[in-house]
Amino acid sequence: MSEQLIDDFGRRVRYVRLSVTDRCDFRCVYCMSEEMTFLPRAQVLSIEELALVAEAFTQLGVEKIRLTGGEPLVRRGINELVERIGELPGLNDFTMTTNGAGLRKHADALYQGGLRRLNVSLDSLDPERFRALTRTGNLEKVIDGIRAAQEAGFRRIKLNAVILKGRNDDEVLDLVEFARREGVDISFIEEMPLGDVSDHSRAETFCSSDTVQALIEARHPLIPSAETTPGPSRYFRMVDSTSRIGFISPHSHNFCASCNRVRVTVEGRLLLCLGNEHSVDLRAVLRRYPGDIEALKAAIIAAMPLKPERHHFTTDGDVQVVRFMNMTGG
Ligand code: GTP
Ligand code: 5AD
Ligand code: SF4
Repeated sequence: MSEQLIDDFGRRVRYVRLSVTDRCDFRCVYCMSEEMTFLPRAQVLSIEELALVAEAFTQLGVEKIRLTGGEPLVRRGINELVERIGELPGLNDFTMTTNGAGLRKHADALYQGGLRRLNVSLDSLDPERFRALTRTGNLEKVIDGIRAAQEAGFRRIKLNAVILKGRNDDEVLDLVEFARREGVDISFIEEMPLGDVSDHSRAETFCSSDTVQALIEARHPLIPSAETTPGPSRYFRMVDSTSRIGFISPHSHNFCASCNRVRVTVEGRLLLCLGNEHSVDLRAVLRRYPGDIEALKAAIIAAMPLKPERHHFTTDGDVQVVRFMNMTGG
């Protein structure tokens, strides 16, 4: 049996979120500041380094890899990376979180490369509002991207909607209807205090999953899904649809006790928890011992005791983690 990654709280790490770029063609208001600058190329892991990190984790019993960003589809070489990770033995869930705008261009290659699941961020169905929330995004392109993914063969697509009071909380039911019509799942997310956002006050825009759930229940009774995921989403079904509804509620329903994941930032920092700074510099290992998978595995194993028990996010509007989500690996 392969080695396993177990932290000091007995949680087994089976899931890695690998950020492949800090860049993005959108600037979502909750995720980035407007004047964000990006990392110089030399600081970012190369495609070879990213592939080796993925391989090391799978040799340590990781079964699920999610590529994130920034926006993974703006990373040069992304299709090659997907192909290389898609070939790794031991992986039973290979997926990506994307803003969807690049899917018309990339969906076929991603599917051919072995990716089978996609999460697409979609916070509004109103073009003007979508533009305001993403600052640069084009709604039509994203919807077309979702359709392109379906045409390419993706059967498991999930939408992610971060709900902000006063900005898109009146669209919850419209988003549910859209998911039902398109035959996709949807997760509603509570905003997390990562990075200092400039154009809204997080304390004022916080919208609890319970509020969102109540809005949906008024139209569609929700049945708890039998599927329990060792992850943040709590899933529900509706009687008359195949679409599932998920709630990711870091504030109102803490899920850290069942945490099964770690992240690797685009700079190769193995981040043991989204809401804390405990980390190990894998890039230093990669660059000191190029191509040495055993050295990388040893560094990963040694990092496990650093995984903290939980995050301590609050909704009072204070920045709790200075890193923005795009640096962290959404
Ligand atoms: P599935 O594999 O489809 O369940 O996806 P997921 O929910 O793990 O990933 P996705 O990339 O769609 O993330 C949705 C939201 O959940 C994002 O805002 C993530 O940052 C957040 N999220 C994912 N994992 C964690 C976690 O360990 N802690 C916290 N606080 N948030 C997380
Ligand atoms: N809080 C909650 N979710 C966020 N995302 C980005 N920034 C934040 C934040 N501060 C979401 C995006 C995307 C996923 C990767 O993370 O909407 O769906
Ligand atoms: Fe880009 Fe995703 Fe951040 Fe939006 S949430 S700015 S799409 S990385």
